[in-house]
Amino acid sequence: MPSHATSRIFVVGGTGAQGLPVISALVAGGKYSVRALSRDPDSRRAKALLALGNVTILKGTFADEAILREGFRGCDGAYINLDGFNTGEKTEIYWAIRCYEIALEEGIRFFVYGNLDYALKKAGYDSRFRAGHYDGKGRIGEWILFQNQTNRDRMGAAAFTTGPYMEMAISAMTPMMPLVEDGVVTWRVPLGNGTVPHVALDDCGYYARWLFDHPERANGMNLEVAIEQVEYHRLAEAFERVTGHPARYIDTDLDTYWNGPLKMAAGLAAGYNADLNDKSTMSFRDNFTGFWNIWKHNVIQRDYALLDEIHPNRIRTVEQWLRHEDERGRQQGKGSLWERVQPDNLFKSVPLLKLSEDGRKGAL
Ligand SMILES: NC(=O)c1ccc[n+]([C@@H]2O[C@H](COP(=O)([O-])OP(=O)(O)OC[C@H]3O[C@@H](n4cnc5c(N)ncnc54)[C@H](OP(=O)(O)O)[C@@H]3O)[C@@H](O)[C@H]2O)c1
Repeated sequence: MPSHATSRIFVVGGTGAQGLPVISALVAGGKYSVRALSRDPDSRRAKALLALGNVTILKGTFADEAILREGFRGCDGAYINLDGFNTGEKTEIYWAIRCYEIALEEGIRFFVYGNLDYALKKAGYDSRFRAGHYDGKGRIGEWILFQNQTNRDRMGAAAFTTGPYMEMAISAMTPMMPLVEDGVVTWRVPLGNGTVPHVALDDCGYYARWLFDHPERANGMNLEVAIEQVEYHRLAEAFERVTGHPARYIDTDLDTYWNGPLKMAAGLAAGYNADLNDKSTMSFRDNFTGFWNIWKHNVIQRDYALLDEIHPNRIRTVEQWLRHEDERGRQQGKGSLWERVQPDNLFKSVPLLKLSEDGRKGAL
């Protein structure tokens, strides 16, 4: 039997919202060391990674074969989360394919692909459900698992399919940013009676580590994760129970939504280095209209029994997540959740996404 055991993992996207908990989980206990790619090794986030220990940073971009080769060489595992909000859908697809091919060539033993659902396919190829940042990953997740049928002994591979971070619902400048209106925390989003299978970033760290710890079972797997199907009336009720302050969800039609806080972004390219003159490029508005339609019509489900088996202590409800986050914020001196969502604090806090911290700028 081939050994897909790994000890040194090349990570793309390590300084990001997803990468930080994934790398923390990988290096915990000293089983794995990490080589993380970053365009800016002097950034606050790159330094935070170095401080974990057992982490080195390789400077460069994933849009460069020589850099990818250097990253994979000398490592035996790979965790690849390409940033589609940099590249746009078309360019992401190309570099994701090359990542897989170069990883094989350079002798990686186990490859984890940071995936999102192929939502267009799951919705029966109905273009109302097209979100480029989902399908750009989801198509390649399937392609990798297909290649893996031939290559599984040479290099194991798994897709790790996440979803909207739960943290986005309490953060500034996200599609589900909370607004405080007359003392009521309010989510105005075009969700209807649908649900969002939000994920908890801490649990993403656990799942990613599980994939590397169990390569024989994980080889060929598409591990699709979430906390639960989060219905926003229930998010608001849970927020009230946890904080003792009023909260509500207001179903909002798409035109009203796009005249709200995201109005300025609506016409921009969803990927900040994508060319709006290229007819394949989706605008923010088109991309996130498809995104909300996916949730409104419950296109995406999860196998929660499988997640309970793999991660018995996983966060199972939005209320549990909110309690945990409230506690964590207080311990870190950020204040209670109620205090954190007040506009002054929300906009002053360190952004969840590196992309927001960098003002949607940076090299391809
Ligand atoms: N937001 C969500 O809820 C969510 C949920 C699941 C999946 N995703 C997907 O995750 C991806 C973004 O990751 P994130 O959520 O962690 O966002 P993020 O916090 O904005 O992080 C972006 C990461 O991508 C890296 N990066 C960007 N361009 C790069 C390049 N050319 N070369 C090398 N590294 C580059 C950044 O590294 P440096 O700046 O250090 O180079 C950083 O580590 C997107 O494709 C998004 O669709 C997002």
